[in-house]
Amino acid sequence: MIPKNTVDTIIETSHIEEVIGDFITLKKRGANLLGLCPFHGEKTPSFTVSSVKGIYKCFGCGKAGNSVNFVMEHLKLTYPEALKWLAKKYNIEVVEKEITPAERELQTERESMIIVMQYAQRYFSETMMQIDEGKSVGLGYFIERDLKNDIIEKFQLGYSLEAQNSFTNTAIINGYSPKYLAKTGMSILNKRYIEGNEINATDLFDRYSGRVMFPIHDDGGRVVAFGGRTLTNDKKIAKYINSPETEIYNKSKILYGLWLGKKTIQEKDTCYLVEGYMDVIAMHQAGIENVVASSGTSLTVDQIKSIHRFTKNIVVLYDGDEAGQKASNRAIPLLLEEGMNVKLLQFPNNDDPDSFSRKVTIQEFQNYIETNITDFLHFKTKKLKEQSKNDPIKRAQVIKDIVDNIAIIPDNIIRSIYVKECSNIMEIEESIIQLEVNKLRLKITPKQKKDDSVSDENTITEISKQNKFEETHESNILKIDSEEKELLRIMLLHGNILVKIDTENENEVDIENLEITISEFILYELWRDQISFENPIYQLVLDEYTLELSHDRIPTIQHFSMSQNPIVSSFVINNIINNYELSNKWKTLGVTVNEEINNIKKSTEHLLFSLKEKKINNYISEKQELLKSVNPEETENIIKEIIHLTGLKKRVNKLLGRIIIK
Ligand code: UTP
Ligand code: MN
Repeated sequence: MIPKNTVDTIIETSHIEEVIGDFITLKKRGANLLGLCPFHGEKTPSFTVSSVKGIYKCFGCGKAGNSVNFVMEHLKLTYPEALKWLAKKYNIEVVEKEITPAERELQTERESMIIVMQYAQRYFSETMMQIDEGKSVGLGYFIERDLKNDIIEKFQLGYSLEAQNSFTNTAIINGYSPKYLAKTGMSILNKRYIEGNEINATDLFDRYSGRVMFPIHDDGGRVVAFGGRTLTNDKKIAKYINSPETEIYNKSKILYGLWLGKKTIQEKDTCYLVEGYMDVIAMHQAGIENVVASSGTSLTVDQIKSIHRFTKNIVVLYDGDEAGQKASNRAIPLLLEEGMNVKLLQFPNNDDPDSFSRKVTIQEFQNYIETNITDFLHFKTKKLKEQSKNDPIKRAQVIKDIVDNIAIIPDNIIRSIYVKECSNIMEIEESIIQLEVNKLRLKITPKQKKDDSVSDENTITEISKQNKFEETHESNILKIDSEEKELLRIMLLHGNILVKIDTENENEVDIENLEITISEFILYELWRDQISFENPIYQLVLDEYTLELSHDRIPTIQHFSMSQNPIVSSFVINNIINNYELSNKWKTLGVTVNEEINNIKKSTEHLLFSLKEKKINNYISEKQELLKSVNPEETENIIKEIIHLTGLKKRVNKLLGRIIIK
């Protein structure tokens, strides 16, 4: 039990921005701090920290609380564990009263497992530093691999003795329960053990023997697993034995080196990704601390998310061999999809960061990294260009591969920069690449939506709830969606067709016929009545159309299908191009299209009329609805408005298709 006054001191001393700043990068935003929420996957920050109030709140997922809540939630700790964690951070002494055997029983499983792992780490380190076998074999191995003492200590490296069960037996003598030795995977149940029985010392044997030990830490610096490397070159023996997945070790979430590197990752705003334990350690020894390894699994999305909390920039370092290349090819799309800026670096020959670092000086190592980092696109194009010089089919495959990768990038601006770059390097028209990218994005959008699940799903359900609400309560409101869409279709497909319009001066006397394009006609009619489209997507397309016209460019379908605004391009590809291709098929059969062009003015007028009439009808319905609830003195005004609107309806019909000259 932690005494109450100690609890108070801990809470008073803990500064929320310092506590949270240990885990995620916070940037100043007005009076608050802002960062990427660690509790749900998000790509734009909505996690807000108020130093003054001592609280955090995520506007994406709704999680909120104080320092203690954050530590509990983020490190999956109990309340007393979180307090102890904070006490350690601020050097506050916690004098707990003695734990009775009954209380020990009550400790959570996770706590007990963490305690076993902490013990194991100390045991393996002491074995390596103090026992003859440890010194000659374990320490000897690390020294041969050029590791310095401070690095060995920093990474808490150790050694497990050859003799079977030395760890398990010592742990049990020191009071650690067989149950948790088995649960953590540090000891393995032997054949004698009968399922369901209580676990005894004689049921267990060591998972590791005669191996050098690499403890694996979680974000809070607690040991949750080990990797043990054999010292033999025997190919039949597994090079590394890793802890199994346990309640405290989630392989797909933990990154080797993150605990020690996160501060530098944050400061340098870059993270190096390497393949192995030894690579992380060698980089630290060469003075580069912002480095992690995925350790024993191929890189997962969760691991990327935990890097993303500190930085968007990642440099993938890997061996020159085929396996290394395959691994990075798998990692690149995952990284891009999570919104990371991806750079690559390859070491010469078959060297990995560790072996290369031992061949050169620290300075040479750092220089090599700085000068050889390549942006992912240049890296890919260079490699693939070499492989596919004069082979057009291979070249096409190369481009497709690159386009696949570009299409995954979630950020519009970054994606469009890559499209440009790719077009330059591969000498292909930018518009062609943009179109391919847009087509691919239509397919991947639903999947990407899922990523930002919490916020997106919420908005979607919110909107559909609202829609339902509107449908039931305002069912007499007329939908004008189809008119808006049809008008856009005409503008995009036949916008340049000239039509004759009657003009009249303010005295409503016909003057002459005027020829304008059908688009100008539509835009004029909308402008005259200050109409904007109710469907926000259609309005976006309309805005882009008007913008093009104002730059004296005739907006083409192609322009829109390649729009850098994914909403616009996907609308045009889905609704206009697909239908257009369909109508082209009809044209080859000699049906309808000419007719459409011939009737274009009439059908446009009809659409505009229908749109305006529905709009007015909707206003009238709204007013009638209002009548039910207003005070008697306001009734008269509303009735007047209704009469005015009804009159307007007649005028719309009469005015349509005429331009008034002032
Ligand atoms: P490597 O075989 O490249 O080993 O595996 P390494 O890290 O370079 O080790 P050294 O330099 O030979 O001592 C890369 C990583 O893959 C995982 C480990 O995390 C290793 O660091 N791995 C490899 C395993 O988990 N098990 C294995 O049997 C082999
Ligand atoms: Mn290696």
